[in-house]
Amino acid sequence: SRGGRLEGRKVVVTAGGTSEPIDPVRVITNRSSGKQGYALAQAALDMGCDVTLISTTDHLMTPAGANLVHVDTAQQMMEAVINHTDQADLLIMAAAVADFRPFHPADEKIKKEDGVPAINLEKTPDILKEIANIREKTGFPRRVIGFAAETEALVENARRKIKQKRLDMIAANDISTSDAGFEVDTNRVVLLFPDGSSQELGLQTKLEAAQSILNKAASWFEKV
Ligand code: C5P
Repeated sequence: SRGGRLEGRKVVVTAGGTSEPIDPVRVITNRSSGKQGYALAQAALDMGCDVTLISTTDHLMTPAGANLVHVDTAQQMMEAVINHTDQADLLIMAAAVADFRPFHPADEKIKKEDGVPAINLEKTPDILKEIANIREKTGFPRRVIGFAAETEALVENARRKIKQKRLDMIAANDISTSDAGFEVDTNRVVLLFPDGSSQELGLQTKLEAAQSILNKAASWFEKV
């Protein structure tokens, strides 16, 4: 079967939203629940893959058999992704990585008696761009899938990201409707490919969307 081609493959999945410290008790984060990433890990395990799940969340059950790596920040996630993809067949970046972080997190809790603080932000590293550079030199990870969550110009933005981040596939998610995206169990995903082709998955559970994504990816590999 097509799915059988992923059996024994090393798959790394990121899940959740990173959080970036403001001070020892406060963070900047986003609304990603991690559900789509966990569904991808589960679907990959079901297909017989060796799965590493790099996750920011403690709220979801770890899929049985996954190697769980917990991270909090974008920087930690980047280091974990680099460490775990040096022999990997497939990286799936389902995590919502913060785009900005406090430039200089405070060592002590910021006190309200001191007035309203100004928080200066800097850009976080783009993990997929870093991985694209490493892959160019080493050949690993062999294939890379990204995600795009947008509230407008979904397909246009996703196409640009395929090129910029040198992806083999991007799973684009319209998060402007209430039955898709953050925190719910369903998604409306469009798969886009570097050759300009696309496939609309329609309304699916996150596990169904994960299976569709992995079935597509399976066609890239020979049976081991
Ligand atoms: O550029 P944007 O954040 O919309 O792209 C989304 C994709 O890029 C996702 O796959 C996400 O995991 C990844 N990403 C990343 N490093 C960042 C921001 C996003 O790898 N700093």
